[in-house]
Amino acid sequence: MSRPVTWSIPKAFVATCFSLLALGVAAYPQHNPKDVQPFRIALSDGLPHMYALLRQSRLPQEEEYPGVADTAGVDLDVLKTLQGAWLKDFNWRREEREMNSFKHFTTEIEGLTVHFIHERSADPDAIPIILNHGWPGSFLEFTPIIRNLTSSATTSSGKPVSFHVIVPSLPGFAFSSPPPANWTIEDTARIQHTLMVDILGYRQFAVHGTDWGSAPSYALYADYSNATRAAHFTFLPFVTYTADQLAAANISLQGTLEQKEERLTEEWLTTGNAYILDQTTKASRLALYDNPLGQLAWIGEKFIKWSDPRQGTGPSLLTYNEILRSTSLYYLTRSFVSSVYVYFQNPHGFRTEYTKPATDAPMLFSAFGYNIGFWPRALVQKVGNLVSYRNHEFGGHFAGLDNPPALIADLREIGEYWNRTV
Ligand SMILES: *[C@@H]1O[C@H](CO)[C@@H](O)[C@H](O)[C@H]1NC(C)=O
Ligand SMILES: *[C@@H]1O[C@H](CO)[C@@H](O)[C@H](O)[C@H]1NC(C)=O
Ligand SMILES: *[C@@H]1O[C@H](CO)[C@@H](O)[C@H](O)[C@H]1NC(C)=O
Ligand SMILES: *[C@@H]1O[C@H](CO)[C@@H](O)[C@H](O)[C@H]1NC(C)=O
Repeated sequence: MSRPVTWSIPKAFVATCFSLLALGVAAYPQHNPKDVQPFRIALSDGLPHMYALLRQSRLPQEEEYPGVADTAGVDLDVLKTLQGAWLKDFNWRREEREMNSFKHFTTEIEGLTVHFIHERSADPDAIPIILNHGWPGSFLEFTPIIRNLTSSATTSSGKPVSFHVIVPSLPGFAFSSPPPANWTIEDTARIQHTLMVDILGYRQFAVHGTDWGSAPSYALYADYSNATRAAHFTFLPFVTYTADQLAAANISLQGTLEQKEERLTEEWLTTGNAYILDQTTKASRLALYDNPLGQLAWIGEKFIKWSDPRQGTGPSLLTYNEILRSTSLYYLTRSFVSSVYVYFQNPHGFRTEYTKPATDAPMLFSAFGYNIGFWPRALVQKVGNLVSYRNHEFGGHFAGLDNPPALIADLREIGEYWNRTV
């Protein structure tokens, strides 16, 4: 996309901020009401149709392939339990109220509607941070951590830290409009830079990314280094190494946790990632446009399989209810197919060449025991200025849901390295 960004109002607004800064006035970015609209989630109109389809959906009475369990996809008994809970216990209106307790906004950038949560800290020195979700995630991956990140806390060495938190919906996801077919991750990074700098007035910020969200966050880290002054990842837009590739690169695994993580990575590479080929080559053909139970089977399997087996216990908030509200969000926003387009649009979105970008901004990385991809420290070091590497036994691919306290603590470590340079 080469369309120029023509935002005369935000530029004038940003210029005003700069001149206030020059005067020594503490100027904090404010929404310009002309550019940003408050947004409320109101999807209840879609509920009767969704529930009618769900009630009509028929599953086999008996387990058809006993003993297969979840090796061939979502376990049939689990799917039946989820379907029952969706019809009986799940309450979309309650979930919607909870979602609306966050400040949502939309804005237009390069012809796209961009939806985002923006929660500001009371602390004027808070670090602006953009949290980028993945597939089949959404902004819901981060709702358990947003408020804690805005509150005043300390890093491991006792430095004060807090965040202004921005959680966008990626283009094509939830309330962000589907981008054209030629839209790439680099385009997403560019409009997110526009959002942070030109629209919200944050000249410097940090980024976090997981799954597909790691791709625009990494592009912001590598290609917008004046603005992106710190990055934290739980996933990288680089294809993981097999055990053989690690050995060939002289990278040895440390301890049983890393060995387990590599084993899960290989399992995912061999039997867990066929959906990628489907979604990359035939994004429109998945026949799940208007099929809530089908979307649940497709999405729910990922949530269950990619997370800690102890999900829903201990620090994990990843319950069946969480899976149902994520699936409902996909279904009710009719964004399943447009979300899958990120694969079609970026067939090489995960790179095989590990190279280091020019930026000197600090990079932090957190591994979680049951994630589908594992990057040992030696691999992460190849792609950034790695200053912190942590590995957690508990948690998996959706760390914001599966081990939120650990993700909060690790993100707060950004405060150790945050250094305003402009
Ligand atoms: C991408 O597609 C859009 C809409 O179809 C078109 O206007 C635009 O020129 C295309 N951009 C590029 C770089 O081809
Ligand atoms: C980054 O900042 C430097 C120094 O102020 C400036 O020369 C350069 O043009 C900037 N780069 C970008 C991409 O804005
Ligand atoms: C791995 O180590 C061996 C022995 O020290 C060395 O010959 C080889 O070049 C190394 N390979 C890489 C990829 O660094
Ligand atoms: C967020 O902070 C509150 C208050 O300190 C605490 O009770 C809660 O456990 C924290 N949440 C997470 C996910 O760490």
